[in-house]
Amino acid sequence: MFAVISDIHSNIEALTTVLGDIEKRGIKTIYCLGDVVGYGPNPKECLDLIIEKTKWCVLGNHDYAVFYEPTNFNYGAEQASFWCREVLETEEEKEQRNRRWSFLGELPMRRTLNSKPGTKSVTIDFVHASPRRPINEYIFPDDVYTNPLKVRLLFERVNYICFVGHTHMPGVFLDEPDFYLPAELGNVYPIVDGEKAIINIGSVGQPRDKDNRASYVYIDDNKVHFVRLEYDIETTMKKIMAIDRLDDFHAERLQSGR
Ligand SMILES: [Fe+2]
Repeated sequence: MFAVISDIHSNIEALTTVLGDIEKRGIKTIYCLGDVVGYGPNPKECLDLIIEKTKWCVLGNHDYAVFYEPTNFNYGAEQASFWCREVLETEEEKEQRNRRWSFLGELPMRRTLNSKPGTKSVTIDFVHASPRRPINEYIFPDDVYTNPLKVRLLFERVNYICFVGHTHMPGVFLDEPDFYLPAELGNVYPIVDGEKAIINIGSVGQPRDKDNRASYVYIDDNKVHFVRLEYDIETTMKKIMAIDRLDDFHAERLQSGR
Protein backbone atom coordinates (compact mmCIF):
# COMPACT_ATOMS: atom_id res chain seq x y z
CA MET A 1 0.00 0.00 0.00
CA PHE A 2 1.45 3.34 -1.00
CA ALA A 3 0.34 6.86 -1.90
CA VAL A 4 1.57 9.02 -4.78
CA ILE A 5 1.42 12.80 -4.63
CA SER A 6 2.52 15.45 -7.14
CA ASP A 7 2.57 19.13 -8.05
CA ILE A 8 2.41 20.58 -4.57
CA HIS A 9 3.53 23.99 -5.81
CA SER A 10 4.38 25.47 -2.42
CA ASN A 11 0.81 25.10 -1.20
CA ILE A 12 1.20 24.04 2.43
CA GLU A 13 -2.54 24.08 3.23
CA ALA A 14 -3.22 21.55 0.46
CA LEU A 15 -0.16 19.46 1.34
CA THR A 16 -0.97 19.14 5.05
CA THR A 17 -4.55 18.20 4.21
CA VAL A 18 -3.39 15.45 1.85
CA LEU A 19 -0.73 14.14 4.25
CA GLY A 20 -3.34 14.07 7.04
CA ASP A 21 -5.66 11.98 4.87
CA ILE A 22 -2.85 9.58 3.94
CA GLU A 23 -1.97 9.15 7.61
CA LYS A 24 -5.60 8.52 8.54
CA ARG A 25 -5.68 5.65 6.05
CA GLY A 26 -2.63 4.13 7.74
CA ILE A 27 -0.48 4.47 4.60
CA LYS A 28 3.21 4.64 5.49
CA THR A 29 4.89 4.87 2.07
CA ILE A 30 4.55 8.05 0.03
CA TYR A 31 6.20 8.80 -3.33
CA CYS A 32 6.27 12.27 -4.87
CA LEU A 33 6.32 13.13 -8.60
CA GLY A 34 7.86 16.58 -8.26
CA ASP A 35 6.96 20.26 -8.62
CA VAL A 36 7.22 20.64 -4.87
CA VAL A 37 7.86 24.35 -5.44
CA GLY A 38 6.74 27.07 -7.87
CA TYR A 39 3.64 29.34 -7.93
CA GLY A 40 2.73 29.21 -4.23
CA PRO A 41 3.73 31.03 -1.02
CA ASN A 42 5.32 28.29 1.18
CA PRO A 43 8.26 26.66 -0.63
CA LYS A 44 10.39 26.09 2.48
CA GLU A 45 7.63 24.48 4.49
CA CYS A 46 6.59 22.24 1.60
CA LEU A 47 10.17 21.13 0.91
CA ASP A 48 10.68 20.29 4.59
CA LEU A 49 7.51 18.19 4.73
CA ILE A 50 8.28 16.37 1.48
CA ILE A 51 11.82 15.62 2.70
CA GLU A 52 10.45 14.33 5.98
CA LYS A 53 7.37 12.40 4.85
CA THR A 54 8.12 10.90 1.44
CA LYS A 55 10.30 7.94 0.60
CA TRP A 56 11.55 9.68 -2.51
CA CYS A 57 10.66 12.34 -5.02
CA VAL A 58 11.46 12.84 -8.73
CA LEU A 59 12.38 16.09 -10.47
CA GLY A 60 9.62 18.37 -11.79
CA ASN A 61 10.07 21.26 -14.21
CA HIS A 62 9.45 23.82 -11.45
CA ASP A 63 12.01 22.18 -9.15
CA TYR A 64 14.40 22.31 -12.12
CA ALA A 65 13.55 25.98 -12.70
CA VAL A 66 14.37 26.94 -9.13
CA PHE A 67 17.57 24.93 -8.91
CA TYR A 68 18.85 25.44 -12.47
CA GLU A 69 16.92 27.77 -14.79
CA PRO A 70 13.31 28.21 -15.91
CA THR A 71 12.80 26.92 -19.46
CA ASN A 72 9.67 27.71 -21.49
CA PHE A 73 7.97 29.42 -18.56
CA ASN A 74 5.50 32.29 -18.88
CA TYR A 75 6.38 35.51 -17.09
CA GLY A 76 4.35 34.79 -13.94
CA ALA A 77 5.77 31.29 -13.49
CA GLU A 78 9.30 32.57 -14.12
CA GLN A 79 8.93 35.34 -11.53
CA ALA A 80 7.60 32.81 -9.03
CA SER A 81 10.72 30.65 -9.61
CA PHE A 82 13.07 33.58 -9.02
CA TRP A 83 11.15 34.58 -5.88
CA CYS A 84 11.30 31.00 -4.59
CA ARG A 85 15.03 30.82 -5.25
CA GLU A 86 15.54 34.01 -3.24
CA VAL A 87 13.47 32.67 -0.35
CA LEU A 88 15.58 29.51 -0.25
CA GLU A 89 18.85 31.43 -0.61
CA THR A 90 18.09 33.90 2.16
CA GLU A 91 17.32 31.22 4.76
CA GLU A 92 19.58 32.13 7.66
CA GLU A 93 19.94 28.70 9.14
CA LYS A 94 22.73 27.12 7.14
CA GLU A 95 21.81 23.52 7.81
CA GLN A 96 18.20 24.02 6.73
CA ARG A 97 19.29 25.95 3.66
CA ASN A 98 21.76 23.27 2.55
CA ARG A 99 19.32 20.46 3.21
CA ARG A 100 16.70 22.01 0.92
CA TRP A 101 19.19 22.85 -1.84
CA SER A 102 20.76 19.37 -1.73
CA PHE A 103 17.32 17.81 -1.94
CA LEU A 104 16.46 19.85 -5.06
CA GLY A 105 19.89 19.28 -6.62
CA GLU A 106 19.76 15.52 -6.15
CA LEU A 107 16.26 14.80 -7.47
CA PRO A 108 16.35 12.03 -10.10
CA MET A 109 14.34 12.25 -13.34
CA ARG A 110 12.83 8.81 -12.95
CA ARG A 111 12.19 6.10 -10.39
CA THR A 112 11.22 2.48 -10.96
CA LEU A 113 9.65 -0.04 -8.63
CA ASN A 114 9.95 -3.75 -9.29
CA SER A 115 7.48 -5.83 -7.39
CA LYS A 116 6.42 -9.43 -7.64
CA PRO A 117 2.77 -9.93 -6.81
CA GLY A 118 2.18 -13.61 -7.59
CA THR A 119 4.39 -15.20 -10.21
CA LYS A 120 5.06 -12.26 -12.52
CA SER A 121 7.48 -9.46 -11.87
CA VAL A 122 5.95 -6.07 -12.43
CA THR A 123 7.60 -2.77 -13.28
CA ILE A 124 6.08 0.52 -12.22
CA ASP A 125 7.64 3.74 -13.47
CA PHE A 126 7.37 7.15 -11.83
CA VAL A 127 8.16 10.40 -13.66
CA HIS A 128 6.97 13.97 -13.36
CA ALA A 129 5.72 14.53 -16.90
CA SER A 130 6.01 11.74 -19.49
CA PRO A 131 7.89 8.48 -20.01
CA ARG A 132 9.96 9.91 -22.91
CA ARG A 133 10.58 13.43 -21.61
CA PRO A 134 10.38 12.97 -17.87
CA ILE A 135 10.32 16.58 -16.76
CA ASN A 136 8.51 18.63 -19.39
CA GLU A 137 6.28 16.84 -21.89
CA TYR A 138 2.55 17.40 -21.42
CA ILE A 139 0.20 14.46 -22.01
CA PHE A 140 -3.26 15.96 -22.32
CA PRO A 141 -6.52 13.98 -22.37
CA ASP A 142 -7.27 15.52 -25.81
CA ASP A 143 -4.09 13.97 -27.26
CA VAL A 144 -5.99 10.71 -27.44
CA TYR A 145 -8.15 12.26 -30.21
CA THR A 146 -5.96 15.00 -31.65
CA ASN A 147 -2.62 13.17 -31.58
CA PRO A 148 -3.15 9.42 -31.11
CA LEU A 149 0.29 8.69 -32.60
CA LYS A 150 1.93 10.67 -29.81
CA VAL A 151 0.12 8.62 -27.20
CA ARG A 152 1.06 5.35 -28.94
CA LEU A 153 4.71 6.39 -29.06
CA LEU A 154 4.56 7.27 -25.37
CA PHE A 155 3.25 3.80 -24.62
CA GLU A 156 6.28 2.29 -26.38
CA ARG A 157 8.28 3.72 -23.49
CA VAL A 158 6.00 2.23 -20.85
CA ASN A 159 6.73 -1.20 -19.39
CA TYR A 160 3.47 -1.63 -17.58
CA ILE A 161 2.27 1.16 -15.31
CA CYS A 162 3.66 4.69 -15.39
CA PHE A 163 2.59 7.31 -12.87
CA VAL A 164 2.77 10.95 -14.01
CA GLY A 165 1.69 14.44 -12.91
CA HIS A 166 2.57 17.74 -14.66
CA THR A 167 -0.74 18.61 -16.37
CA HIS A 168 -2.54 18.76 -13.01
CA MET A 169 -5.39 16.76 -14.61
CA PRO A 170 -6.00 13.30 -13.12
CA GLY A 171 -7.07 10.31 -15.19
CA VAL A 172 -5.97 7.10 -16.88
CA PHE A 173 -4.53 6.71 -20.39
CA LEU A 174 -4.69 3.30 -22.05
CA ASP A 175 -2.76 2.34 -25.19
CA GLU A 176 -5.76 2.04 -27.55
CA PRO A 177 -5.32 5.06 -27.11
CA ASP A 178 -8.00 6.07 -24.68
CA PHE A 179 -8.46 8.34 -21.69
CA TYR A 180 -10.72 7.94 -18.68
CA LEU A 181 -11.52 10.55 -16.07
CA PRO A 182 -11.46 9.25 -12.49
CA ALA A 183 -15.24 9.83 -12.26
CA GLU A 184 -15.78 7.54 -15.27
CA LEU A 185 -13.97 4.80 -13.36
CA GLY A 186 -15.82 5.32 -10.09
CA ASN A 187 -12.52 6.81 -8.84
CA VAL A 188 -10.85 3.40 -8.90
CA TYR A 189 -8.61 1.95 -11.62
CA PRO A 190 -7.92 -1.77 -11.17
CA ILE A 191 -4.42 -2.61 -12.43
CA VAL A 192 -5.03 -5.37 -14.97
CA ASP A 193 -2.52 -8.04 -16.00
CA GLY A 194 -1.03 -7.11 -19.36
CA GLU A 195 -2.87 -3.78 -19.67
CA LYS A 196 -0.47 -0.87 -19.90
CA ALA A 197 -1.57 2.40 -18.33
CA ILE A 198 -0.24 5.91 -17.90
CA ILE A 199 -1.89 7.22 -14.75
CA ASN A 200 -2.02 10.93 -14.05
CA ILE A 201 -2.54 11.45 -10.35
CA GLY A 202 -3.52 15.14 -10.52
CA SER A 203 -2.14 17.96 -8.41
CA VAL A 204 -2.07 18.52 -4.66
CA GLY A 205 -1.56 22.26 -4.72
CA GLN A 206 -2.96 23.55 -8.01
CA PRO A 207 -5.64 21.34 -9.62
CA ARG A 208 -6.56 22.34 -13.19
CA ASP A 209 -9.50 20.08 -14.03
CA LYS A 210 -12.10 22.61 -12.86
CA ASP A 211 -12.31 20.85 -9.51
CA ASN A 212 -10.47 22.94 -6.91
CA ARG A 213 -9.96 20.11 -4.42
CA ALA A 214 -6.49 18.67 -3.82
CA SER A 215 -5.83 15.45 -5.76
CA TYR A 216 -3.70 12.38 -5.05
CA VAL A 217 -3.86 8.58 -5.37
CA TYR A 218 -3.20 5.60 -3.19
CA ILE A 219 -2.63 2.04 -4.33
CA ASP A 220 -4.07 -0.83 -2.35
CA ASP A 221 -4.52 -4.43 -3.47
CA ASN A 222 -3.65 -3.60 -7.12
CA LYS A 223 -6.24 -0.85 -7.27
CA VAL A 224 -5.47 2.82 -7.83
CA HIS A 225 -7.81 4.99 -5.78
CA PHE A 226 -8.26 8.62 -6.84
CA VAL A 227 -8.88 10.95 -3.90
CA ARG A 228 -10.07 14.58 -3.83
CA LEU A 229 -9.99 16.73 -0.70
CA GLU A 230 -11.21 20.19 0.17
CA TYR A 231 -8.63 22.37 1.88
CA ASP A 232 -8.35 25.95 3.13
CA ILE A 233 -8.02 27.65 -0.29
CA GLU A 234 -8.80 31.10 1.14
CA THR A 235 -5.70 31.10 3.31
CA THR A 236 -3.41 30.08 0.44
CA MET A 237 -4.98 32.73 -1.80
CA LYS A 238 -4.49 35.46 0.77
CA LYS A 239 -0.83 34.54 1.21
CA ILE A 240 -0.19 34.62 -2.54
CA MET A 241 -1.92 37.99 -2.91
CA ALA A 242 0.14 39.42 -0.05
CA ILE A 243 3.40 38.64 -1.87
CA ASP A 244 4.00 41.25 -4.57
CA ARG A 245 6.19 39.06 -6.73
CA LEU A 246 3.64 36.27 -6.95
CA ASP A 247 1.04 36.98 -9.63
CA ASP A 248 -2.55 37.22 -8.27
CA PHE A 249 -3.56 34.85 -11.05
CA HIS A 250 -1.83 32.05 -9.15
CA ALA A 251 -4.34 32.71 -6.34
CA GLU A 252 -7.41 33.07 -8.54
CA ARG A 253 -6.77 29.83 -10.37
CA LEU A 254 -6.81 27.91 -7.08
CA GLN A 255 -10.39 29.01 -6.53
CA SER A 256 -11.56 27.97 -9.99
CA GLY A 257 -9.32 24.89 -10.30
CA ARG A 258 -7.94 25.82 -13.73
FE1 LIG B 1 3.22 21.35 -11.95
